[in-house]
Amino acid sequence: MELYIRDGVLYEGLISTTYRGEQYFAPIGFIKNNNSVFIKVYKGGLLEEVVLNTSLFALNIVFKPDYYAAFSLKKELGDVSVSQKTWIRGQQTLPILTDSLGYLVLVKENIVDNGEYYDVEFRIVDQGVNSDAYIEPYSRCYGSIIEILVYATKIKALRSRVQREVLSNFLEYIDFNKEIAYKTCSQEYKSLVDKILRWIREWLGEE
Ligand SMILES: Cc1cc2nc3c(=O)[nH]c(=O)nc-3n(C[C@H](O)[C@H](O)[C@H](O)COP(=O)(O)O)c2cc1C
Repeated sequence: MELYIRDGVLYEGLISTTYRGEQYFAPIGFIKNNNSVFIKVYKGGLLEEVVLNTSLFALNIVFKPDYYAAFSLKKELGDVSVSQKTWIRGQQTLPILTDSLGYLVLVKENIVDNGEYYDVEFRIVDQGVNSDAYIEPYSRCYGSIIEILVYATKIKALRSRVQREVLSNFLEYIDFNKEIAYKTCSQEYKSLVDKILRWIREWLGEE
């Protein structure tokens, strides 16, 4: 099997690197165009610091929502057993998830400050596939949980800075996706959704 990434599609993956001697992973949206990958990095988190100060990254291709949860809400849901399943590529101590379907190796080429976020461009210098990876059917369950996590991380980062109306919009998206998750997910994943929803209520001071 080969890794096939179309130009112009907004995909999600897990960006990884070694930062200050520790493995760092975070979910990220990315678009490929020819031999380049483009991401947007919002200001204010550790991700910003890591991307500003590092030039070599891997982009892990992963579907399972467990990983997106563990690496986006590290303090709340971070699971050591998930984050330790990595192998180190080459001599540049680039950590890659053992469970990823494949990966790209990226070198930072250009960074533009756009106010609220940075536009960052990378050059693809290598790629690989995990020949042991299994093929699993597509499920709306995974998409719904990842969608919930996107808005959960936005609420966590922006809750004290944005108007109530913006937060209500985020909560509406989350509610819509919760319905899909409850319809399509296993009990294990429904429990993960419930945990995320509890954290959101806590950040908003409702618990
Ligand atoms: C599916 C998903 C996609 C995300 N995409 C982005 C993105 O494109 N840009 C960004 O700045 N943050 C994105 N985030 C949020 C970052 O992953 C988040 O800032 C980070 O996980 C928080 O960890 P940190 O404390 O290491 O910054 C995304 C989160 C999820 C769950």
